[in-house]
Amino acid sequence: MTLQTDLLHLARPQSMPASVNPAVVRTSTVTFETIEQMREEKQRMASGERAFTYGRRGTPTTHSLEDAISRLESSEYTQLLPSGVAAINLVFLTLARPGAHVVIADSVYQPVRRSVEAWLKPWGVRVDYFDGSVEQLGTLLSDDTCMIYTEVPGSLVYEMQDLPALAQLARQRDIPLVVDNTWASGILMQPLALGASVSLMAGTKYVVGHSDVMLGTVSANAELGLRLREMSMVLGQCVGGDDAYLALRGLRTLACRMATHAHNAEGLGDWLARQPHVARVHQPSRPEHPGHELWRRDFSGSNGLLTIEFDAAVERQRVDAMVNHLTLFGIGSSWGGYESLALPCDVAAARSLPNPWAERGPCLRLHVGLEDLSDLQADLSQAWRMLAP
Ligand SMILES: Cc1ncc(COP(=O)(O)O)c(C=O)c1O
Repeated sequence: MTLQTDLLHLARPQSMPASVNPAVVRTSTVTFETIEQMREEKQRMASGERAFTYGRRGTPTTHSLEDAISRLESSEYTQLLPSGVAAINLVFLTLARPGAHVVIADSVYQPVRRSVEAWLKPWGVRVDYFDGSVEQLGTLLSDDTCMIYTEVPGSLVYEMQDLPALAQLARQRDIPLVVDNTWASGILMQPLALGASVSLMAGTKYVVGHSDVMLGTVSANAELGLRLREMSMVLGQCVGGDDAYLALRGLRTLACRMATHAHNAEGLGDWLARQPHVARVHQPSRPEHPGHELWRRDFSGSNGLLTIEFDAAVERQRVDAMVNHLTLFGIGSSWGGYESLALPCDVAAARSLPNPWAERGPCLRLHVGLEDLSDLQADLSQAWRMLAP
């Protein structure tokens, strides 16, 4: 069965008559018929199986969502977290250890650096950033490297990486490779199938798809999956039934939403690249995008993100004025919902390695939503006059 079809049929009630969607379980306490039944359930939990013993440890609703995400990510295990950032920190807490070394791609989501400064370094973990290439990664790995962390494409300007080659090197050195897969959200690429050890997502974005729930997911196989689950239990991380239900509902339309996001974003990217004041449009689906061939090889499609890099002569205030004149684009950061968004972004501030971004023109990230493409184009067109000096 294809992924798209499976996502429509997973976790639906089996016995008839039935509602189309599963019931929402909201609970802290779980009660049992007999002491024996309670012991049996706890025994299942102790032997590593998923059990229904207490709300913090998961409910049938969260278990259904975990199974659906595992299908999406081609993994044996998935752990739900209350946000994407919580997912990132769960992975760091599980894999990093004081005195050891981690290597992180320079193009990752900026708040990863906050975790590095707030606790990884103070905790005694050595951290190096790498440029995303296998060559540079190879020079940085050492005998005590305990994790390689990346995100493909990179945040803000979508730097591509050769994920299978990174994964091969990681495996040769027996180091877990962790991939933030939020951009593809499983429907466009599955890191575990390309050789990574862990895939995590901000489910907040495309999985939920309606900008109304915070959610993180971490997916892995075998022993590593169990370790991640155990650490999540130790930390007391859990997700409420209503949020899990909404994410499950989001999954039903993920494939068709993504196709429309891609159609709109690619159409807008073509149009924007022809507009005055634009130096380039950053978007992996564009043939001139660095690493476009890797994107074509490893991804099955596009999403709604693109970033406009304006000519260096364009002042940031003019970009701000243009954004203020948009009527269909909200000003906000959390992409992946059905709606269009615009966000000025500072690429130089989000990178640690020497980079040319401070010299380049201002950047504006768009998340292209599900509105009609012609309306979005007309909106940008009327606001464009604000860019004139
Ligand atoms: C690539 C990526 N990873 C992780 C996150 C964090 O997700 P959350 O906002 O759910 O904590 C974000 C949020 O923007 C993101 O863009």
